[in-house]
Amino acid sequence: MTARLDQLRRCHFAVDLGASRTRVYVKGAGLVVDQPSVAAVNTRTGALIAVGELAERMTGRTPHYIRVVRPVSGGNVVDIEMAQRMLRHLLGDKVRRTLRRKAFLRAAACTPNDADPLGRRAAIETLVGLGARRVELVDTLIAAGVGAGLPVERPEATMIMVCGAAATQLAVVSLGSIVASERIPVGGDAVDHAIVQHLRHQHELILPSQSVRPLQLALSGNGLTPQGPASTEIHGLDVATGLARSVKVDTAAVRDAIQTPFTALFDGIGKVLRDCPPDLVADLADRGIMMVGGSALLPGLDQMLRQATGMPVSIAERPELCAIEGLGAMLEGRVEPLELNLPAE
Ligand SMILES: Nc1ncnc2c1ncn2[C@@H]1O[C@H](COP(=O)(O)OP(=O)(O)OP(=O)(O)O)[C@@H](O)[C@H]1O
Ligand SMILES: [Mg+2]
Repeated sequence: MTARLDQLRRCHFAVDLGASRTRVYVKGAGLVVDQPSVAAVNTRTGALIAVGELAERMTGRTPHYIRVVRPVSGGNVVDIEMAQRMLRHLLGDKVRRTLRRKAFLRAAACTPNDADPLGRRAAIETLVGLGARRVELVDTLIAAGVGAGLPVERPEATMIMVCGAAATQLAVVSLGSIVASERIPVGGDAVDHAIVQHLRHQHELILPSQSVRPLQLALSGNGLTPQGPASTEIHGLDVATGLARSVKVDTAAVRDAIQTPFTALFDGIGKVLRDCPPDLVADLADRGIMMVGGSALLPGLDQMLRQATGMPVSIAERPELCAIEGLGAMLEGRVEPLELNLPAE
């Protein structure tokens, strides 16, 4: 990574294309885009109607000739052309003009730790389509570790958990490299799905897709921890009649429902620890786990992890921005390579 740092320092912008949100950092200007990775297309003409927040609000509310698409899925770009069009619109004319002025435009992007060559290629192609002549790829786990302020360059082990929308990535990092890692295909989307299924089965209520987040917020404020309110009122559609109905939902039951997808997470932590040399595990016992990514904000998740592992668990500040801020720090040259003070031979 030390050698790559000077390549990264020469990049002009960095992109984190997530399954849920797209973020762009421009050197010197900071974070310029933080919007949902969504585009709405007119299928008759092929024209792009909206991107980002506006397109997300259209989900489930469009006439048949408008399709709302997500060009990124499971951590990889699945529709390169659409991802390029979405990014172009999200960047806007002003930023694009600034980038176009560079004689040799360089870009950086983060990709999941286990991205296959096709996934990496798709990330590179997307940015080449935006005019980049050279693209540097950084492991999301490393970028997020840097963004969270972890000493990833030092010879001390740190455990980082990137809780994204589609998956949770977990790794032990030391000396700027990944010692052991695991990707668990459970993230914020799985939690939303578990809540929707719970309401459907237990209360025969269909929750509109856009109400899952408000529901999570209603349950938060410690709602998903035992100290929170015992029940909360939810509006939705009756499964049988299709009529609007509201029910009182027991928060303890919702808490149990979202716990199920997370059991896979606890198994993943055990596996990473087993793959780790004992010296590093000793470091981890007192440093614990650093949680980053949007789903780290899920109320009660840190508490659940603390109970399951017995290790200290902390959530980074603005966890959802760690990966892009980490890339930004590398671009701005705020990450110091490890200096070796070897005695003269
Ligand atoms: N305050 C919050 N409480 C609970 N969950 C949240 C909160 N904010 C964001 N999330 C969840 O975090 C996820 C988005 O996180 P993030 O922006 O890190 O994902 P991403 O980078 O787009 O996804 P990925 O890295 O998996 O490709 C969504 O699933 C969202 O539901
Ligand atoms: Mg992400």
